[in-house]
Amino acid sequence: MSPESISGQYPFFLLLIFLIIIAPSSSQSDPRQILLKISTDLGDSSLPVFSTWNENNPVCNFTGIVCNGQNSVKEINLSQQQLAGTIDFDSICSLGSLEKISLGSNLLHGTISSHLSKCTHLQYLDLGYNLFSGEFPEISSLTHLQFLNLNLSGFSGPFPWQSLQSLNNLTYLSLGDNPFEMNPFPLEILKLGKLQTLYLTNSTIQGTIPEEIGNLRLLQSLELSGNYLVGTIPKAITKLTNLQELELYDNELTGTFPVGFGNLVMLAKLDVSNNSLEGDLSELRNLTRLESLQLFENKFSGEIPVEFGEFKFLKQFSIYDNKFTGELPAKIGSWADFEYIDVSENFLTGSIPPDMCKNGKMFDILMLQNTFTGGLPETYANCSSLSRLRVNNNSLSGRVPDGIWSLPSMKLIDLTMNQFEGQVTPNIGEAKSLQQLFIANNRFSGELPEEISEVSSLVEMELMSNQFTGQIPARIGDLKKLNSLHLEGNFFSGAIPESLGSCVSLSDLNLAGNSFSGQIPASLGSLPSLNSLNLSGNKLSGVIPASLSSLKLSLIDFSNNMLIGRVPESLLAEAYNNSFAGNPGLCAEGRRDLRRCSPISHKSSDLNVAKYCFIAGALVLVLSLACFLFVKSRRKDRKNLTDRGFSWDMKQFHVISINEGEILRSLKQENLIGQGGSGNVYKVELGCGKKLAVKHMWKSGIDSGDRKSYPSGETILPKRKIRWPEYDAEVATLSSIRHVNVVKLYCSITSEDSNLLVYEYMPNGSLWDRLHTYQKVEMNWDVRYEIAIGAAKGLEYLHHGCDRPVIHRDVKSSNILLDEEMKPKIADFGLAKIVQTNKVMDSTHIIAGTHGYIAPGKSLIFISR
Ligand SMILES: *[C@@H]1O[C@H](CO)[C@@H](O)[C@H](O)[C@H]1NC(C)=O
Ligand SMILES: *[C@@H]1O[C@H](CO)[C@@H](O)[C@H](O)[C@H]1NC(C)=O
Ligand SMILES: *[C@@H]1O[C@H](CO)[C@@H](O)[C@H](O)[C@H]1NC(C)=O
Ligand SMILES: *[C@@H]1O[C@H](CO)[C@@H](O)[C@H](O)[C@H]1NC(C)=O
Ligand SMILES: *[C@@H]1O[C@H](CO)[C@@H](O)[C@H](O)[C@H]1NC(C)=O
Ligand SMILES: *[C@@H]1O[C@H](CO)[C@@H](O)[C@H](O)[C@H]1NC(C)=O
Ligand SMILES: *[C@@H]1O[C@H](CO)[C@@H](O)[C@H](O)[C@H]1NC(C)=O
Ligand SMILES: *[C@@H]1O[C@H](CO)[C@@H](O)[C@H](O)[C@H]1NC(C)=O
Ligand SMILES: *[C@@H]1O[C@H](CO)[C@@H](O)[C@H](O)[C@H]1NC(C)=O
Ligand SMILES: *[C@@H]1O[C@H](CO)[C@@H](O)[C@H](O)[C@H]1NC(C)=O
Ligand SMILES: *[C@@H]1O[C@H](CO)[C@@H](O)[C@H](O)[C@H]1NC(C)=O
Repeated sequence: MSPESISGQYPFFLLLIFLIIIAPSSSQSDPRQILLKISTDLGDSSLPVFSTWNENNPVCNFTGIVCNGQNSVKEINLSQQQLAGTIDFDSICSLGSLEKISLGSNLLHGTISSHLSKCTHLQYLDLGYNLFSGEFPEISSLTHLQFLNLNLSGFSGPFPWQSLQSLNNLTYLSLGDNPFEMNPFPLEILKLGKLQTLYLTNSTIQGTIPEEIGNLRLLQSLELSGNYLVGTIPKAITKLTNLQELELYDNELTGTFPVGFGNLVMLAKLDVSNNSLEGDLSELRNLTRLESLQLFENKFSGEIPVEFGEFKFLKQFSIYDNKFTGELPAKIGSWADFEYIDVSENFLTGSIPPDMCKNGKMFDILMLQNTFTGGLPETYANCSSLSRLRVNNNSLSGRVPDGIWSLPSMKLIDLTMNQFEGQVTPNIGEAKSLQQLFIANNRFSGELPEEISEVSSLVEMELMSNQFTGQIPARIGDLKKLNSLHLEGNFFSGAIPESLGSCVSLSDLNLAGNSFSGQIPASLGSLPSLNSLNLSGNKLSGVIPASLSSLKLSLIDFSNNMLIGRVPESLLAEAYNNSFAGNPGLCAEGRRDLRRCSPISHKSSDLNVAKYCFIAGALVLVLSLACFLFVKSRRKDRKNLTDRGFSWDMKQFHVISINEGEILRSLKQENLIGQGGSGNVYKVELGCGKKLAVKHMWKSGIDSGDRKSYPSGETILPKRKIRWPEYDAEVATLSSIRHVNVVKLYCSITSEDSNLLVYEYMPNGSLWDRLHTYQKVEMNWDVRYEIAIGAAKGLEYLHHGCDRPVIHRDVKSSNILLDEEMKPKIADFGLAKIVQTNKVMDSTHIIAGTHGYIAPGKSLIFISR
């Protein structure tokens, strides 16, 4: 060994000796101790993932740990492990070789300390989908970082944009869905020349998209949706020829697609929906690789380029609510696994393209409100994947291909307002999924097939204003889910079948304007949730069955029939003045519109009365007709949330003209008026000016972030964990209650994923707010006294006035809401219990076992803005 070589190794020997000396005292940097501490910080060290993290197992064998060749910890991967603790980067970063930290999709909380900047070897950092708080620290020392994901992780305040300047190795940057401080487009990003993915959705960015975006030549995915971006789509975007995905939806962009947009030939997903873009689509003609094209809610115009008919990969196509004209390319959707089309609310003409279900994957055909002509193509008669077919308000005609009625996946058939003719064929009995059958305002004729009673999934049937004849099928009672049955304005005849009384879910029944004869079946009195009963304008005779007294109706119309005898007392209470008009044989005490009952009142031979009633009846008919037309014309069946992947089941408890679509469309942030343990509350103003409060409750399981897994346009609401029984309790309780001091539940709308409760709107919010918050108001003792008395009356009714007593179990000032006159109404029956009076012992047991009284706290509130 030469002297030089020894002296060359001298520093190495020194280092070795130094290491040997300090090693025993360095237990603090012992990876095992560090990791064991991390496991306690990160939550419960008894979580399954930590079962291998113990004294006996080699560190490199711990679940989620990967070591490098020198047995040093290189990666910590604990994503999706239900971790619920905090992260101490001071200890994590003392693992000097750490290159990869993956803690996404957990429930981690707390702040991230500036010690993170000590992890200088980090290449990969994923903290997405967590519940952190505070500002994200400065990280300019992490110069090796290639992957940074912080999406939906709770960081707020300003983001350290300037740190990005030194992170020029980044290829993946995802900061979206965090409530950062309002910020213009961060220019620091525009220097990250290696970026392939940029996700800045919903991160409070305002202003224009800078032209320098064109510098990011390697970008494959650019997502800037849900911000406050204005101005045009920059011309420079046409330089990003590697783009496969471009998401700009939910902004305020204007102008047209820039010239040269057709250069982006790799684009597979393009979503610019909900902006104010205009112009035609000629720039998109060459984008032959498009799989998903979402242009809805803009101001685009012109014709759909014929080239779209040749796009071989197109699966989703949604352009609703624009001003497109002309015809759809005949071959559109005939190549790939086309699954979704929504061209509603345009000015499109021509016929329905025939081959959209060629590959058997089509599930939604939504073509509402256009001027399509011709028939429904025969090709859809075997489209077994089809779930919703909505073509309402077009000029379609002809017979509906028989097979359409029996498609196995079909949930919603909506052919309303066209000129279809022919019959509903008996094979409809095979439609095992059908929930909603809307074929009103057409020219359908013939009898309703008996087999319709076999469609046990049916919830709503609207067949009004057609030319149906014959009787209601005798087995209609088999439809246990049927909630709403509209047959008005047809030529039905015969008796109303007794079995209708077995449709236990029925809440809305309208048989008006037909030729039904015979007696009103007594069985209708046993329908537990019947709320609206309209039998007007038929040839019904006999007396009104006493059994109907037990119904709690909010609309009743028996006018213009041939009914006789005494109107049951309780029906009079709920009735409108005209509910019984045009039945000369009916009588009641103390009503101007009805004859007094004489002891022998059953056959009226009083000609004057008959004449009077006839005139009154005719008048009512004219008025009702006008009213009917008015209501119809208001009923705008747009496409909406209902059309985006869920189907909804609506149960109405009070009569009010509600269109579920109108409600669903209003569930947006700007209408949010309250948030509580069991859901969000929105204020909804209907087209008719009526205001409602809608409580949206989630079943857990809807993923909040990944909007793309749904047909676009659908608002995916964040998941919450709620105790589902609260919903059932609320519906069960409120649907059966009518009292001035109890908030009125108009209807419930349920789908597989969430539930809506529609209440009357209480403009003055909760008593708690009026007393305690910044919205508090001066309340003199008279007002307070009236509120106390009103609330007491509401409770008194709940305990003693209902058929079965209701115990609210959560009475507190935030659950007492105030109407415009400061009259109180009791709300939030999520914890209520209905007492089974016949089982007193049981019920007291139930109540004693739970919280009879829950101390005041802020729960669901209806605040007025
Ligand atoms: C590593 O862990 C597995 C169980 O996860 C165990 O079977 C194996 O023996 C361990 N290896 C060592 C070297 O301890
Ligand atoms: C983390 O581990 C999971 C499960 O083993 C794996 O699917 C995932 O790809 C890993 N993530 C990273 C970033 O290595
Ligand atoms: C958001 O973070 C989660 C959890 O790490 C991840 O699964 C998802 O892909 C991220 N989304 C984006 C757009 O980065
Ligand atoms: C990251 O960038 C630096 C220069 O800023 C460079 O020296 C280094 O090689 C790059 N690559 C990696 C993987 O760190
Ligand atoms: C937008 O981000 C916020 C957090 O800032 C999050 O709560 C919300 O769910 C996000 N919205 C969407 C539509 O993802
Ligand atoms: C449309 O985008 C705006 C933001 O520009 C957002 O507030 C609104 O909720 C979006 N509308 C729909 C229907 O998503
Ligand atoms: C589409 O491609 C053709 C041929 O490649 C080209 O001539 C035309 O200019 C392109 N159109 C657009 C709008 O990019
Ligand atoms: C429908 O039937 C036609 C002709 O028999 C066939 O070509 C087509 O593939 C079928 N479609 C589906 C979705 O089954
Ligand atoms: C019924 O008529 C009476 C007298 O004509 C009127 O005072 C009352 O307001 C009417 N009620 C309804 C519900 O229309
Ligand atoms: C009953 O139905 C008929 C026909 O649709 C309608 O004209 C009338 O207004 C309805 N009655 C009430 C009280 O709404
Ligand atoms: C039917 O569509 C036309 C436009 O085509 C629209 O003006 C009208 O309001 C729609 N009617 C209903 C009831 O939706």
